[in-house]
Amino acid sequence: MSKATIRQVTARDLDRCCEIEFLSFSSAEAASREKIAKRISTYPEGFTVLETNGEIAGFINAGATHEVQLSDEAFKDLEGHDPTGAHVVIMSVVVHPDFRGLGLSASLMIDFIERMRTLGKEDIYLICQQELVAMYAKYGFVDLGPSASSHGGKCWHEMVLALQTGVAQNQPE
Ligand SMILES: CC(C)(COP(=O)(O)OP(=O)(O)OC[C@H]1O[C@@H](n2cnc3c(N)ncnc32)[C@H](O)[C@@H]1OP(=O)(O)O)[C@@H](O)C(=O)NCCC(=O)NCCS
Repeated sequence: MSKATIRQVTARDLDRCCEIEFLSFSSAEAASREKIAKRISTYPEGFTVLETNGEIAGFINAGATHEVQLSDEAFKDLEGHDPTGAHVVIMSVVVHPDFRGLGLSASLMIDFIERMRTLGKEDIYLICQQELVAMYAKYGFVDLGPSASSHGGKCWHEMVLALQTGVAQNQPE
C-alpha cells in the first residue's frame, strides 16, 4: 500500500464517503447522504479524508459547539454547530472494511487531533461503544462513562480529549 495522505474533504468526495459510511454502520446508525453532504458543505475544516493510491479509505467528521450535549441527535445534522465553538464533537471515525487493521484510523485520529489543536480548539468529544474505549484512550481520550445517547438503539460511552495536554505522549506505538 502506498503512503497514506490526509486532507480536508471536498464536495467531490461525497459518493465515496457515503459508500464507506453505509458499509460500516447499520442503517440505524449510519448518517444519511444528506447529513454527510451537509457536514461537507458546512464544516469541511472538521472533515478529513485519508487516501491511499488516490482512493479514499477512511474519514473523520465532526462539528464544533460552545455547549456540548452528546446525546443531542440534532447535532448530527449540525443543528447547534458553530465553527467558532471551542469544543469539537466527532460524529464518525470510519475506515473501509478492505483497509482495516492497517493503522489508518490511528493516522486519521492523530492528524485530526493536531488540526483541531492548530484551530485553537479546547477539546474533542465523542461517543463510542465499550469495545472502542481502549482504542480512543490510546490518543488520550478519557472515558466519562455511559452516555444518555441511545443512537442506533445502542449503549454508548462519552469520551473527551483535552487538547492542552499534548498528544505526543499518547500516540499508539
Ligand atoms: C473502528 C475502526 C475505525 C478502526 O479502524 P482501523 O483503521 O482498522 O484501526 P487501526 O488499524 O488504526 O487500529 C488502531 C488501534 O485500534 C485498535 N482497534 C481497531 N479496531 C478495533 C475494534 N473494533 N475494537 C477494539 N480495538 C480496535 C487496533 O487494535 C489498534 O490498536 P494498536 O494501536 O494497539 O494496534 C474501523 O474498524 C471501523 O471503521 N469500524 C466501523 C465504524 C466504527 O465503528 N467506527 C467507530 C465509531 S465510534
